[in-house]
Amino acid sequence: MTDRQQLIAGLIADVPDFPRPGVMFKDITPLLASPAGFEAAVTALVEAAPRDIDVVVGMEARGFIFAAPVALALGAGFVPVRKPGKLPGETISESFELEYGFETLTVHRDAIRPGARVLVIDDVLATGGTVGATAALLRQMGAELVHVAVLMELSFLEGRARLAELGVDNVTAVLTV
Ligand code: PRP
Ligand code: MG
Repeated sequence: MTDRQQLIAGLIADVPDFPRPGVMFKDITPLLASPAGFEAAVTALVEAAPRDIDVVVGMEARGFIFAAPVALALGAGFVPVRKPGKLPGETISESFELEYGFETLTVHRDAIRPGARVLVIDDVLATGGTVGATAALLRQMGAELVHVAVLMELSFLEGRARLAELGVDNVTAVLTV
């Protein structure tokens, strides 16, 4: 691990049995509260970004926290992918299966022009459902998903393999656990 990875990893707390028994929650709030830690996390995500990104997409809620400063640093726009009922314009939606039930993500239909070069940013890659649904939204818009960068990949949940099955293979993680 690099010094930067060690700094970031040391500021992410493991919380057992949250939000449900048997789940080990990765709490990023200590990282966000640390000026050095937050800066290190955003810088690492910026360094993972390819050149010439037009739009950075972040997913509600924790994805917003990292995607917005990355967009500013890259000189790109920021587009929010949101949970249902939050966006006032015409939206498109994609649903994916959770352990119990379904989650739906939405985006304004005209938020990204066809052919735009898009970077997707989220805090955690777990099963890959969130990134997979976001990739499907981008496909519906005709945007080019150039890269996915996450702060932390939970490799035992095999999200990377699920994304590869969906044709999303340009994924990097600052930390892999
Ligand atoms: C969490 C996390 C990722 C997602 C990863 O979001 O922030 O977006 O789960 O899991 P997946 O790879 O299995 O989809 P969640 O919607 O739980 O909460 P948030 O609104 O706090 O971001
Ligand atoms: Mg999330």
